[in-house]
Formats: sequence, structure tokens, C-alpha cells
Amino acid sequence: MPLNSVLRGDCIEVMRGLPAASVDFVLADPPYLVNYVDRSGRRVANDRNDHWLVPAFEGIARLMKPDTFCVSFYGWSRADRFFHAWRRAGLAPVGHLTFPKRYASSTRMLRYQHEGAYLLAKGRPPRPAAPIGDVIPREYTGNRLHPTQKPTSILTPLVRCFCPQGGLVLDPFAGSGSSLVAARLVDRSFLGIELDPAMHATASARLSAGPRRRPPLPADVGAAA
Ligand SMILES: C[S@@+](CC[C@H](N)C(=O)[O-])C[C@H]1O[C@@H](n2cnc3c(N)ncnc32)[C@H](O)[C@@H]1O
Repeated sequence: MPLNSVLRGDCIEVMRGLPAASVDFVLADPPYLVNYVDRSGRRVANDRNDHWLVPAFEGIARLMKPDTFCVSFYGWSRADRFFHAWRRAGLAPVGHLTFPKRYASSTRMLRYQHEGAYLLAKGRPPRPAAPIGDVIPREYTGNRLHPTQKPTSILTPLVRCFCPQGGLVLDPFAGSGSSLVAARLVDRSFLGIELDPAMHATASARLSAGPRRRPPLPADVGAAA
């Protein structure tokens, strides 16, 4: 199993070559199936179609160890398709996370001011030692590195809560590598997969630069006890 790197390719193909039951936590930020185009014309690969959705989550579930968690972001307007894929893969929803923003990302029928993710279980994972709240405010990243870049500040609590110390975090839709950076910040091993060559280069550069570790927080020390 290649560790602490981001592999370039289609996650469905790449995951086929990885050993089953080898991952402790999956943090997935897949395309939302909304054909998103940002103000400068940037798009997200595979955001127009869902042919990849079922096989990708079947591959994810195969790599998860028994009784472990996956957090998956999703597009709210395509929630039915995500649920179909998760259930086909044998992943059961056991919680829902909301990430409110101080700004609206768009305004139509509502001012759209939050994103969501489901906490999914393979088997029956034990209750986390220190469960986190299901509302995590998010700041604006500026989307400098990716058109839908997630702030690492909303990802580190997820990794700390749902991945055991010394465990391996997988992000099959790594984008600019935010979840991999988050995993590294809290001292977990990580593996990313990214289809878009430009994004893969961005994530690789980001991982080879920047701080490798931050000093342990009291929360980590408590979690280890
Ligand atoms: C929502 S973005 C992830 C953004 C990331 N969380 C960040 O903060 O930069 C989804 C990513 O999945 C990638 N992608 C889409 N289909 C894929 C596939 N089949 N295999 C691997 N990556 C894929 C896209 O290129 C895109 O970068």
C-alpha cells in the first residue's frame, strides 16, 4: 500500500489495485453532480455524470476495514443518487454533518449558505471516544487551489474523531489535497487519488511543501489515553 502520497488516475481503477480492508477512515469529497463552473470558468471532472458513483463507493467500501467510518460530502440536489450508491456499497448513514458558511455560495430560491456530508458506517464501528458536534462552521478558502477547495479546519476534527491514531485516511477524490493535508496535520497516514492531472500536480506540490506536522494538542493526548 503506497502511503502518504497522492496517486494520479481514476479512483475506480486505482482502488482495484489496492488491498481490501486496508483503510481506517475514508474522507471523500466527490463531485456534487451539478456541472459546477466557477466565475473564472474552472470545472470539476466528472461533475456532469454519475456513471462513476456506484463503482467508486463499491471500491471505497471494499478498501474500508470492517467496522469503520466514511464521511462523504454530497450534492444536496442529487442526494437520491448518493444514497443509492452508498446503500449499494453497504454503507449505512449514521449521522449528518452541516458546515455553515458566513457567505452564500449562490442565491436562487434560498441563499445557499451551508454544505453537508453524511457519516457512513461499514459494519458496526464503535462509538468514537470523544464524539464531535454535527455542525462545523467553515471559513472561505478563496478556492485558490481548486474551484471547490475545502478548508482543512473543517476536516481535521473529522480525521481526529473517526480515524484512530496511527491509522490510514483515504481520499479517493483528492482535488488539491485538503483532506490529505488535514490527515497529516493530525498525524495520520494518508493516501489520495486524483483524476485531473493539473489537480494531481497541485496536491502533490502542496504535500511536498508546507508544514509536515503541528505540535500535539491536548485533545490528541486525551484521545490517545
Ligand atoms: C469536489 S472536488 C475535491 C476538492 C478537494 N476536497 C479540495 O479541497 O481540493 C472532487 C475531485 O474529484 C476528482 N475526481 C472526479 N472523478 C474522479 C475519479 N473517478 N477518480 C479520482 N478523482 C476524481 C475531480 O477532478 C475533483 O478534483
